[in-house]
Amino acid sequence: MDKILVTGGLGFIGSHTVVELQNEGFEVVVIDDLSNSSIDVLSGITSITGKSPVFEILDLKDIQKVQGFFKNHQDIKGVIHFAASKAVGESVQNPLKYYENNLNTLVYVLQELSVLPTSNFIFSSSCTVYGQADVMPITENAPVKSAESPYGNTKQIGEEIIQDTCNVVPNLKAISLRYFNPIGAHPTAKIGELPIGVPQNLVPFITQTAAGLRDCLSVFGDDYPTPDGTCIRDYIHVVDLAKAHVVALQRLLSGNNEANYETFNVGTGVGSSVLEVIQSFERVSGLSLNYKIAPRREGDVIQAYANTTKANNVLGWKAQSTLDDAMKSAWLWEKQIRNL
Ligand code: WQD
Repeated sequence: MDKILVTGGLGFIGSHTVVELQNEGFEVVVIDDLSNSSIDVLSGITSITGKSPVFEILDLKDIQKVQGFFKNHQDIKGVIHFAASKAVGESVQNPLKYYENNLNTLVYVLQELSVLPTSNFIFSSSCTVYGQADVMPITENAPVKSAESPYGNTKQIGEEIIQDTCNVVPNLKAISLRYFNPIGAHPTAKIGELPIGVPQNLVPFITQTAAGLRDCLSVFGDDYPTPDGTCIRDYIHVVDLAKAHVVALQRLLSGNNEANYETFNVGTGVGSSVLEVIQSFERVSGLSLNYKIAPRREGDVIQAYANTTKANNVLGWKAQSTLDDAMKSAWLWEKQIRNL
């Protein structure tokens, strides 16, 4: 089967995608610099699929290392590019780290792909590119608004770099997947999200509060113009999201793409408020979560959920899991890593 490179393959979404690629019979090579992941994830992947991906620790910011890698792997048929920094708040404090780590690395990988006889590239993008979209649910034609953070800007610029490259490199085909909010963990609880330090995202903060690592969840604002006053997002199970990458890759490998560069929103199409996520957690765990209403968080959009028509009808992928399924898997994972 085709050999696929997964950069950032030991990360949250990357590791779940490696599992789904192996399940489909692909030969997988993982690159990760371990800056935001653990080598233990490799054994988690292997214990799920029974196969160990080839792994190379490599910093994609080092152009010589990138060139050396591709010299040794001329038979790569596709690349799924997750490797990037992704903390919105940190990107505001340290923009140059984000522009270097998220964009230089993308350019170096694309430079190598541009000289291969054929190459298929899947890019990890984000609904962040839409900012606060005017119309819900959000379609791929929604205007890309000026980014609210350097992180979001790196996703917008990244998409433009790929589009411009596909316009002039005939053998390069690419798809950007614009994720909504990935949550949950593999049902085996052998891999999942491993936030370093205090979680910035809602779901790991919920599970860590329930596990006793955090005293109380702060709900950032309940005075938004939404039914219950809290922000609305499209929370998608990470396994559903991982499967979308395999479908997108297969679309390119089989030549079914309609253009050299395509974008797809990857969400459930269902908007859930912060309070609804808390209620979902309480339903699936049987616990009562300790939370309080706190001031709004700077930069939060009021609501963002996907119009999934294009993903469902053109890409041929549809999310299968519910919010409860995802919250149940997140809690199972938290209990597993905390030995609860
Ligand atoms: C969700 C909702 C918060 C924490 C971010 C990135 C996005 C993507 C996913 C990378 C919001 C509320 C959160 C908390 C809370 N990451 N919240 N208390 O901000 O929608 O998206 O992560 O691609 O690019 O922007 O996700 O989980 O941080 O927040 O009330 O302790 O939960 O205000 O309404 P977000 P999130």
